[in-house]
Amino acid sequence: MSLTTNKNTAIPKNKFQFAQDVDAGLKSNPKYLSSKYFYDEKGDILFQQIMNLEEYYLTRSEYETFTLHKEEWHDTFSKGVDRFNLIEFGAGDAYKTKVLLNHFVDKNANFNYIPIDISGNVLDFLHKKLAQEIPKLSVTPIQADYFKAFDNIKQSSNSRNIILFLGSNIGNFTPSVAIDFFGKLKSKCGPNDYVLIGVDQKKDPNKILAAYNDSKGVTESFNKNVLVRINKELGGNFEPDNFIFFPTYNPLSGEVRSYLVSKSNQSVFIKALNNSYSIKAFESIFTEISKKYSLDEISKLADNTGFEVVNHYTDSKNRFINTLWKPKS
Ligand code: AVJ
Repeated sequence: MSLTTNKNTAIPKNKFQFAQDVDAGLKSNPKYLSSKYFYDEKGDILFQQIMNLEEYYLTRSEYETFTLHKEEWHDTFSKGVDRFNLIEFGAGDAYKTKVLLNHFVDKNANFNYIPIDISGNVLDFLHKKLAQEIPKLSVTPIQADYFKAFDNIKQSSNSRNIILFLGSNIGNFTPSVAIDFFGKLKSKCGPNDYVLIGVDQKKDPNKILAAYNDSKGVTESFNKNVLVRINKELGGNFEPDNFIFFPTYNPLSGEVRSYLVSKSNQSVFIKALNNSYSIKAFESIFTEISKKYSLDEISKLADNTGFEVVNHYTDSKNRFINTLWKPKS
């Protein structure tokens, strides 16, 4: 690929990584493009719209669980320590977390909120919004990739870290990446710390598939936004309409896997990579995994990565799980 030898063109580091990943994904067989590239300004808006869709039950379910258990969590988190840090991986707009933040501030809890997100835009917006809405809250935002964020978890005496990994973000991990992630997280945890994870539960497969195949086509635009970004940021000439959006759900593995299937033989040129990629008729580009878990699978994942389950929490319709873990003693 030409990027590595092209030392005179100043390509920002993020864009370089994006270009490299696109090149690798389109050269691979089968082809893939990572869902982490769905999220730019437009993708963030599309995801906001998804959270408001009738079919997308996940966000509303988790929100309800937070309202049901905020008192209990306040007591659990503050017990036995002088103060605590709420460290949220992939904070986004913190829609559900605000339920806790408001309650904890009302209770005069001594804590600091540390939202971590890959998007600087999203973090700036959140920081300003929180300053207006919950002025008494102490906030320390950190811009970082999930796997680079671990270095920001520091231990101190009489204090506890609570790691929040909400909204079924864990679903985007393949099982082996999930083991790697929580194993690394475990090595950063002290004996008093907690991890609270939002996990979507295996359920009626029709309900799950509908959540990723909405009638308004917002999820389709969201997936196709990776093509739009390639066009915009890397000078590609993808025709999003030349692809069929096709999400699938496998009730055995619990995996929603989404694809963009080529409608015809086509060739795509990407300027920043100075390369053409040919895509055959009905060849697929794999775009996203959103894995659903059974309770047994959640407990096994905890056990395999050095944690024990303190409790599972759910909403009134038992759709979504918030699982609370602590390091195994
Ligand atoms: C943000 C990863 C939790 O997998 O449910 C929504 C993203 N993709 N609709 C999910 C998403 C299609 C979402 N997560």
